[in-house]
Amino acid sequence: MSRTILRGRVLSFHRAPEGLEDAASYLYLEDGAVSIEDGKVVAVGDFAAAERQGAEIIDHRPHLILPGFIDLHVHYVQSQMMAAYAGSLLEWLNTYTFIEEQKFSQQGHADAVAVDFYDALIRHGTTTAVAYCSSHPRSVDAFFAEAQRRNMLMIGGKVMMDRNAPEGLCDTAQSSYDDSKALLGKWHGVGRGLYAISPRFAITSTPAQMEAAQALVAEHKQAYVQTHLSENDAEISYSMELYPGSADYTGIYEDFGLLGPKTLLGHCIHLNHRETGVLADTGAVAVFCPTSNLFLGSGLFDRERLIKHGVRTGIATDIGGGTSVSMLRTLDEGYKVLQLRGQRLNPFASFHMATRGNAQALGLQETIGSIAPGCAADLIVLDAYATPTMRMRQPTVSSLAEELFVLQTLGDDRSVVEVYVAGARAKSTLGGL
Ligand code: GUN
Ligand code: ZN
Repeated sequence: MSRTILRGRVLSFHRAPEGLEDAASYLYLEDGAVSIEDGKVVAVGDFAAAERQGAEIIDHRPHLILPGFIDLHVHYVQSQMMAAYAGSLLEWLNTYTFIEEQKFSQQGHADAVAVDFYDALIRHGTTTAVAYCSSHPRSVDAFFAEAQRRNMLMIGGKVMMDRNAPEGLCDTAQSSYDDSKALLGKWHGVGRGLYAISPRFAITSTPAQMEAAQALVAEHKQAYVQTHLSENDAEISYSMELYPGSADYTGIYEDFGLLGPKTLLGHCIHLNHRETGVLADTGAVAVFCPTSNLFLGSGLFDRERLIKHGVRTGIATDIGGGTSVSMLRTLDEGYKVLQLRGQRLNPFASFHMATRGNAQALGLQETIGSIAPGCAADLIVLDAYATPTMRMRQPTVSSLAEELFVLQTLGDDRSVVEVYVAGARAKSTLGGL
């Protein structure tokens, strides 16, 4: 079996850092070796001590080798509509998003967009993402087929939506159940693909469709669940008009049995005390989408409050409400959102969140998000001085924490030197990039 060793400065987290001085929370090797066999990490340690006999050595010094980024919430079908000029969520959905997503009924469109979407992920160092497809089954086929072709661990599902949207996008409670079930059977566990049952949000699902989603969740415990929660004030009011019997917005999903440790809830900005308690009790994950929340003027995620109440959290781009595919840009905007909340996010906590933290949110921390024996060799190589502006800053950077902070504040896809997916080079083989 052939072995590859990546040489460079290695950084991987064991747990969430409690502060800048919490060096026990991570592994950092100044001259490290990541040994890869059969798509997996088999050893990590000092290069001088590595078993090098017969191995191909790829020298990435002086760059940093990290686990690939994980994006917990992205709409791949919105790849071509980022930066749409709208004042707020519902206007943005009705004016642009629901028009754009109808294109996925056309043969060939989904395949073409999926290729571009995966190219963009790789360019930006994201090796796993949790994605919404459109309501059309062929968009799901395109999503998983492309993931399989690239050997990527990707999670996604058919959006379920049967009201308050154009006819070309609406399914029915029954068809959404049938299609989701068939797609789950077709793609979950095929290659590295995993399925997410995806009722879009309360506004676009009738109670009958929520019941269909509930049945799917009960019948497929192995699948993830994803939806949107408490993003925008008008969205919350309308949701409560549509579900007057529920205690609050979270209560709608709770009433239909959609909350559990495999449930990912985009946004979670305006939650009351009861709602944070329900999320904590059920283990559902609140997903912070900073570039989207700023772009759509939705509000400021209260990370500390959620964590204090025991809610699991993660971070994501939310393309195309989000404005960058880059998890570096996302961390930067996340830092700024939290600044406005009077909360500091130290750079170790940021990079933990985008790697092992998000893996843990998925319950996949033994598989992805870390550089450790047994984990997939989904890795990125980062250069903190890739651009002229970054190089201007370089002389005054004197610690790893500062270097990470420069990466997240000034970095983008130009800082991603190489990407490995299951041990195979992915970025430098894209071509033309
Ligand atoms: N709520 C329901 N659908 C969407 C979507 O596509 N994007 C965002 N940001 N919020 C939503
Ligand atoms: Zn979203």
